[in-house]
Amino acid sequence: MKYVIGNLKMNILSPSDRERYFKMLKSELIGKKFKNLKVILCPSPVHLESFANNLAGKNVHIGAQDVFWEKSGSYTSEVSAWMVKNLQAEYTIIGHSERRKYFGETSAMDNLKIKAALKAGLVVIYCIGELREQRDNDLEADILSIQLEEGLKNIPAGKLEKIIIAYEPVWAVGTDVIPKSNEVMEAKIIIKKILTGMYGQKNGLKTAILYGGSVKHKNAEQLCIEPGMDGVLVGRESLNPHEFIKIAQIIDQ
Ligand code: PGA
Repeated sequence: MKYVIGNLKMNILSPSDRERYFKMLKSELIGKKFKNLKVILCPSPVHLESFANNLAGKNVHIGAQDVFWEKSGSYTSEVSAWMVKNLQAEYTIIGHSERRKYFGETSAMDNLKIKAALKAGLVVIYCIGELREQRDNDLEADILSIQLEEGLKNIPAGKLEKIIIAYEPVWAVGTDVIPKSNEVMEAKIIIKKILTGMYGQKNGLKTAILYGGSVKHKNAEQLCIEPGMDGVLVGRESLNPHEFIKIAQIIDQ
């Protein structure tokens, strides 16, 4: 199974913008059948219900962009995994580099969020990746290892099938600077090695590993197909349904 996941981030500002988005997306989906691909859209939580209702039966799955680790209580403005699950989200992104960068999120916090999300019955898309200066100092394997070991701490092997890893080199997110195909493949091998070290050969090799960071239809081949990734996490281009579905078709080829 391959995945094309759209992270709509803090966009789509009004109900009319949202309607426009649905209209364009539905027209792009007409007559298109994906063979071995899950298309997932992750809007802001204010749009979750509407996305789930409007895209029901369209073969588009819905996810959140983040969840808090508590189920309910006095945590002003936070959104719990159970809340989004009850609005028909099946997935949630956790540990996105923008959460880490602007909100001081750590892999230890992500560990709590991942556990909560799994408990609520969501599939987790866990984002990991190194900064530019870390790569320049050949630290990417160390960083990926810390992020995986801390983020997945005490999560049993049996839960791995509910976790998707998104390798997102931070320097490629939102920048249009992209890694070479072999750099993506190397990262995939590093991640597989770390996971098999943590969970054993049988379990560690099963996890889907996606690429994210400046994905467009023009570079989907280089960033996903050539390095043998299991799909992509798309930011900006997911705001353009035409482009997003084009990417999905390439990944499903
Ligand atoms: P981008 O974002 O595609 O706009 O670079 C990717 C992401 O944040 O996952």
